[in-house]
Parts: sequence; structure tokens; C-alpha cells
Amino acid sequence: MHYIAMQQERLLKVLVIGDLGVGKTSIIKRYVHQIFSQHYRATIGVDFALKVLNWDQQTVVRLQLWDIAGQERYGNMTRVYYREAVGALVVFDMTRFSTFQAVLKWKGDLDAKVALCNGRPVPVVLLGNKCDQQRYGLCSKLPKLDTFSREQGFVGWYETSAKDDTNIEAAITCLVENIMSSS
Ligand code: GTP
Ligand code: MG
Repeated sequence: MHYIAMQQERLLKVLVIGDLGVGKTSIIKRYVHQIFSQHYRATIGVDFALKVLNWDQQTVVRLQLWDIAGQERYGNMTRVYYREAVGALVVFDMTRFSTFQAVLKWKGDLDAKVALCNGRPVPVVLLGNKCDQQRYGLCSKLPKLDTFSREQGFVGWYETSAKDDTNIEAAITCLVENIMSSS
């Protein structure tokens, strides 16, 4: 007898948040289109990208990436943008300490405004981006990110570079794995 495997489709809304110019748009462009540009054009409001993943034999994941402008932290639209999100990437720029200090503000804003159906916080992965520029950076000033991310409730952290394509795929895969096992 033959059984036809039923494919299921999961639509996942994932937020990409963090301060101005940390590289959120660049990370998404790298992940979805394999391109990178040095040119900086600030995102206004929110942008969207979609990536379809053949997750396993039964599951197709439609990953909807919400690219939230850094300047939205000062606006009052985030509650609307965050609605029904099931995960997030919080990004900082390894060369600018102020963007690291903002990480907990973004995470706090997120946890205050969105949660899973069971009331638990949505999984969040921390990204220290522009690691290609580390030698100009502030590694010495950063706390140990292993401890920091665990204590602050991140499900993982990565040093990334959208420019050199370092750990972008790994970070997003880690997030999707967590989402798939938590919902
Ligand atoms: P907003 O939309 O204003 O919130 O900024 P954003 O977080 O989307 O930043 P964006 O991706 O536009 O990148 C800002 C600048 O940083 C651009 O000039 C990018 O080329 C540069 N950039 C982004 N990622 C990297 C990286 O991994 N390495 C280096 N060297 N530059 C990067
Ligand atoms: Mg942007």
C-alpha cells in the first residue's frame, strides 16, 4: 500500500531589530539574496523579505522576515509590528558600544509587547554584527557573551558579518530550530 506524505506549511513571522545602522537590512539581504552593499540607506518604518525553507521531509517553512528600522525604537509603532511574531534576531554592531547597550532595550520592548500562545517569551538570538571589523572594535569592553546571553534569556548568540557572510545562516537556522521546537 502507498502512503502519500502530507506536506505541511508553516508561516513564521520573525523580527529583525536593533539600533540604527547595525546591519539588519544587510543581514537579510545576505541571507535571502546573497548580496551585500557598503552603501547605507536607512530603512523607513518596516521592510519585508520572504525565504522558503525545505525544513524537513514533511515541512516547508515560509520565513517572513520583518526588517524594522532602528529609528522605530523612538516611535510607537513597534507594538503593531511585533504582533504575532514567533521569534526575533536582536542585532548590534561590534564596533559601536552604544548599540550593544541598546540590546536590552530592544529585548525588553519585545518581551513587553509580544509572547507565545503559552505565555512564554518568543525565542531571540543575539547577533554581534560586523565581526569582519573586530580589530577596530570593542571586544575588550564587551562582557562574556556566553554568560550575558544566557542570563538575559537569549537562546543563542553569534558573531556575524553580512559583508563576509559569516554565521548569518547559522544564526537564523538556530532561531528557526528554536521556534519549531517551542511552538
Ligand atoms: P537601519 O535601517 O537604519 O535601522 O539600519 P540597518 O540596521 O538596516 O543597517 P544596514 O544594513 O543598512 O547597514 C548599515 C551600514 O553598515 C551599511 O553601510 C552596510 O554596508 C554596513 N554593514 C552592514 N553589515 C556589515 C558587516 O557585516 N560588515 C561591515 N563591514 N559593514 C556592514
Ligand atoms: Mg535597515
